Amino acid sequence: LLAIAAASSTAAESSDQTLYQGAQVLKLKLKTDAQKTLIGNLQSEGKIEIWKRFSNGMVVDALVISSALTAVKDQLRKAKVEVQVMIADVAKTIKTHNPTSDVKRKQTPMKKGAKIKIAEIYNLTFTQYNRLSVIYGYLDFLARNYPAFCTVQSIGTTVLGTEIKMLKIAGSVQPANLSLVIDGGIHAREWISPAAVTYVIKELVENRTLYEFATKLDYYIIPVANPDGYEFSHTSSRFWRKNRRDPTSSCPGVDLNRNFDYMWGGLGASSALCSETYKGKSAFSEPESQAIRDVMTTIGTSAKAYIAFHSYGQQIIYPWSYKALLTNDSADLDKMGKKMAAAITSAGGPAYTVGNAAIVVYLASGVSDDFAKGGANIKYSYTIELRDKGASGFLLPASQIVPTGKDAFAAVQAMSLELIAGA
Ligand code: ARG
Ligand code: ZN
Repeated sequence: LLAIAAASSTAAESSDQTLYQGAQVLKLKLKTDAQKTLIGNLQSEGKIEIWKRFSNGMVVDALVISSALTAVKDQLRKAKVEVQVMIADVAKTIKTHNPTSDVKRKQTPMKKGAKIKIAEIYNLTFTQYNRLSVIYGYLDFLARNYPAFCTVQSIGTTVLGTEIKMLKIAGSVQPANLSLVIDGGIHAREWISPAAVTYVIKELVENRTLYEFATKLDYYIIPVANPDGYEFSHTSSRFWRKNRRDPTSSCPGVDLNRNFDYMWGGLGASSALCSETYKGKSAFSEPESQAIRDVMTTIGTSAKAYIAFHSYGQQIIYPWSYKALLTNDSADLDKMGKKMAAAITSAGGPAYTVGNAAIVVYLASGVSDDFAKGGANIKYSYTIELRDKGASGFLLPASQIVPTGKDAFAAVQAMSLELIAGA
């Protein structure tokens, strides 16, 4: 029996509890350009931190720390902005959204001939957001127990020297002529993304024999593409987004999803080190984005699809993102996107909006899906923003991991079946 000690303290650290005590997330409904300007000013003055924009920027979810709350609400009221309180106490919600257990993790030995429930044998739980070591331990466990089709590869090390692990789930017909690349956790605070991708892995491995497509497809899955950022968001700062480049600088981190070499440094990316969308020193300056690039480019022509899982907003978006412009095969991408959205609702999930990234979300340059399409020539390239639609945002309760994992798996399965059918 192998016992893996659970991290004794997860959830938020005390600094977060101090910083976000009494902080709120507000949902702002705008009607005029003047109101939009006000929101932009509040953001550049550092009085609000924007989590998400919907409806062409007319709906904005914004975090306001307690010391700024009265003044900000005052300004919003004077400008006649409609304000809804989305999260009434951020510190409290940080504490409660990820209930942790102190239960020691134990692996149950596998019984010969038993119907495999690999996640149970590893004692993997989807009722809480797992730490990096638990997710990596699961990948290694799969590789040990299913060496015929599961391999763990180290695809690079981060700026802090942390391994970036990828699980390859190989089809039984080799060489496969179709490959699907999936990543999660490019943005640290979007905890549902690694969780949902881990759920996808569990489904693909446990039900491998049930899915005909698994025989023809190779999956290359990186559940935590920004492991340093992910851990930092668990131990120190819940809403950390970037990687951990230069941790001792006053503004550490590069936005990995602005660091890819396709229209790098264009609109929707920042040159300011302190910005949440800081693009980095140069395209692919970061080992984490390099690692994803190398996976995409070394697979070669069998690479047919790429999905980057992010949160939140329930959106399935496709290139281009650097400009409100469609690719010349955009009809194919739209059709595939709608198949994935339909599969999610058929599986009991909620509606996901399908469309062009720049139009549905906002302009962003140097993103991974633009690179997959334009730099690595992967036809079906998507970013999927998982749950929710702006109720809990990044603080999605852990009880939503399984249902959201089902959304992600439904999308991956629909994509796989379409590729097999010769999309
Ligand atoms: N959360 C994502 C980001 O800001 C939004 C998607 C950007 N667009 C894209 N096509 N990836 O990076
Ligand atoms: Zn993201």
